[in-house]
Amino acid sequence: MKALVLSGGSGTRLRPITHTLAKQLVPVGNKPVLFHGLEAIAAAGVTETGIVVGDTRAQIQAAVGDGSRFGLEVSYLWQREPLGLAHAVKIARDFLGDDDFVMYLGDNVVFDGITDFVERFRERRPAAQIMLAQVDDPRQFGVAEVSADGRVTGLQEKPRRPRSDLAVVGVYLFSSAIHKAVAEVEPSARGELEITDAVQWLIDHDLRAEAAVMTGCWKDTGNVPDMLEVNRLVLRSLEPSSAGVVRDSEINGQVVVEPGARVTGSVVVGPAVIGSGATVTNSRIGPYTSIAEDCSIADSWIRDSIVMPRASITGVRPLESSLIGQDVEITRTPEPPSAHRLVLGDRSRVQIAS
Ligand code: G1P
Repeated sequence: MKALVLSGGSGTRLRPITHTLAKQLVPVGNKPVLFHGLEAIAAAGVTETGIVVGDTRAQIQAAVGDGSRFGLEVSYLWQREPLGLAHAVKIARDFLGDDDFVMYLGDNVVFDGITDFVERFRERRPAAQIMLAQVDDPRQFGVAEVSADGRVTGLQEKPRRPRSDLAVVGVYLFSSAIHKAVAEVEPSARGELEITDAVQWLIDHDLRAEAAVMTGCWKDTGNVPDMLEVNRLVLRSLEPSSAGVVRDSEINGQVVVEPGARVTGSVVVGPAVIGSGATVTNSRIGPYTSIAEDCSIADSWIRDSIVMPRASITGVRPLESSLIGQDVEITRTPEPPSAHRLVLGDRSRVQIAS
């Protein structure tokens, strides 16, 4: 079995962060979203992995390399334009050959991993096996109808009136039968070759598509609230440890202080992580906060947030539910005059407290 990881796409709902960073590389608990997926693939015993990349391919390649640190053998497949998930399968045809494969959307995080899901496919060998999860609002996902014996009987992509509450999770297993299906489907209304249409094609041609409804937690990190939610969940799973320098500070609960971090005169409330080389001075951090490597935080309170590498935050109290990009600088206005002074990239979003 092989793995196909989709790591293209433009990440429009995460702008401006995604103007300069692949959405799959946004760190949650100080680890890129994509790495959680690659670890799940390796844990399921799959090694040969093709990563489909688009405009951000140089970044993805620099971050993942040959995959050896995950125990994977990674090849890169360039999708020149984001023409859909089924299109990604098409361009991976030579890499996949006639092998079974697990397709994993690189912006999804499945907290219990995919090992059971892969095992089940290996035992049953349907043409397709789709991971599903019950959600409150299925309209933003692919939606599946499932028969009493666990077969998928119909699929709709982001329907206005969903026929069930079962969302398609971004992990799919396919036999080589999918190649005929992706060759037959036509572009959808949004101009993409949809994998949901390709699976529907299999069903319409009497090939078996099975459902595997998951009970654990899963998130598509396509927007800021979901990214922050994944950050909270990942932080909650970290083992507390302190390899940095902590002086005159209180560390409460599940906190990771990475090697080379310095925490002085501060309170850190877990779950939280302070990245290597970061300095935190006279500040309150957490809960649910990831401070990435080489950040500098002083005289600030930060909770429920992701702060990306090398950001500098001084005199800001409080800051919450925020996604702060790499090399961002936030300082207090010298007084007087007291006014907000902003230099924001295109499509930035700021909420001011006063
Ligand atoms: C894709 C699929 C959708 C699935 C979702 C899971 O949507 O088309 O069926 O439910 O991933 O994350 P996209 O995120 O590309 O809009």
